[in-house]
Amino acid sequence: MDEPILSVRNLSKTYMKGKIPVHALSDVSFDVQKGEFLSIIGPSGSGKSTFLSMIGLLDRPTKGSVFIDGVEVTKATDSEAPKIRREKIGFVFQHFNLIPTLSAFENVDIAMRFARVPKSNRKERATELLTRMGLRDRINHKPSELSGGEQQRVAIARAMANNPAIILADEPTGEVDTKTRDMIVELLRDLSENGQTILIVTHDTSVSARTKRIIKMLDGRIESDTINA
Ligand SMILES: Nc1ncnc2c1ncn2[C@@H]1O[C@H](COP(=O)(O)OP(=O)(O)O)[C@@H](O)[C@H]1O
Ligand SMILES: [Mg+2]
Repeated sequence: MDEPILSVRNLSKTYMKGKIPVHALSDVSFDVQKGEFLSIIGPSGSGKSTFLSMIGLLDRPTKGSVFIDGVEVTKATDSEAPKIRREKIGFVFQHFNLIPTLSAFENVDIAMRFARVPKSNRKERATELLTRMGLRDRINHKPSELSGGEQQRVAIARAMANNPAIILADEPTGEVDTKTRDMIVELLRDLSENGQTILIVTHDTSVSARTKRIIKMLDGRIESDTINA
């Protein structure tokens, strides 16, 4: 087998609630191969968001390591982390998190500007991605002029902009109707079939049922890790 694109080793995170330690993650290990489409499910409080913020370099573990694309990202200093995050990880959020004053095009473009991609490459890439998301005729629209499903597709284009090693999606269908939900999941599945690694955190079993691997968390541990044919 190839080297995994994501490797999590003995990852633990303990928060302090006053003087009481809360073990949000306890010794979690697993590997993800390039192009996998997987979901993380589990009850509220089981550690899903904590886990995502460790992989996404938004917070630091108490113990353990995360390797992305062969790089031990948990070793990054505070000044190195933003660059790794920009180049290796694409985020998709429940509330889309687009910049309201910018058009669809500019929302995708700005992700590449932060990564110092030259202007001519950015224009071509943003147009290509938005077209691929079925938004060719929405390029100059602002988020407020787009439906929830369209906004989430802009957010997915933005997440793809810098060709990330992995896309992390936290409840990406939490705000849309079921028809739009199914369309977004199909789109993500399609991207994974073209080699994009995608990890979704979700409560929705009809979303996890469409992913090819399901990791179920309970009390900060992996309760089960199953291939979903
Ligand atoms: N910043 C924090 N400070 C203290 N406790 C936290 C913090 N974030 C999460 N927790 C606790 O860690 C556990 C896991 O939370 P979380 O990762 O948000 O779970 P999930 O996303 O599965 O609902 C919970 O018991 C939660 O209360
Ligand atoms: Mg959560």
